[in-house]
Amino acid sequence: MSENETLISAARQARENAHAPYSNFRVGAALRATSGRIFGGCNVENATYGLTVCAERVAILKAISEGERGFNAISVVTDTDTLTPPCGACRQLIWEFCGDVPVILANLKGKTETIWMKDLFPKPFDSSNL
Ligand code: THU
Repeated sequence: MSENETLISAARQARENAHAPYSNFRVGAALRATSGRIFGGCNVENATYGLTVCAERVAILKAISEGERGFNAISVVTDTDTLTPPCGACRQLIWEFCGDVPVILANLKGKTETIWMKDLFPKPFDSSNL
């Protein structure tokens, strides 16, 4: 299995744990640290709706809270024909911790597309603006 396939597979597995009873839109993400460790995340919804946390942010916060710094790719998996890019809030967090990494989108049928963060988030607000 290639590195990308391994990451997609971790995102697929994380998606199995999605708590999405309100949208029924199940998302899995996986983040590869430069250490080689992979962190999975799923979306975790809430009855208040607004407290929902996306899969990407769950994966990032897990990794950061485990002491990881430095990442080289993130994958997002959904069961949709049109692949799912990270939402705006997630792009901001991915940029903060990962910078210009490849975002590997995939669905359950094996369709994939890689988009670099610089293209998804061309004019970021970050520490360079402070
Ligand atoms: N969602 C994610 O987890 N990641 C994305 O990139 C897009 C949206 C979740 C949030 C919510 O639980 C559901 O998908 C519908 O918006």
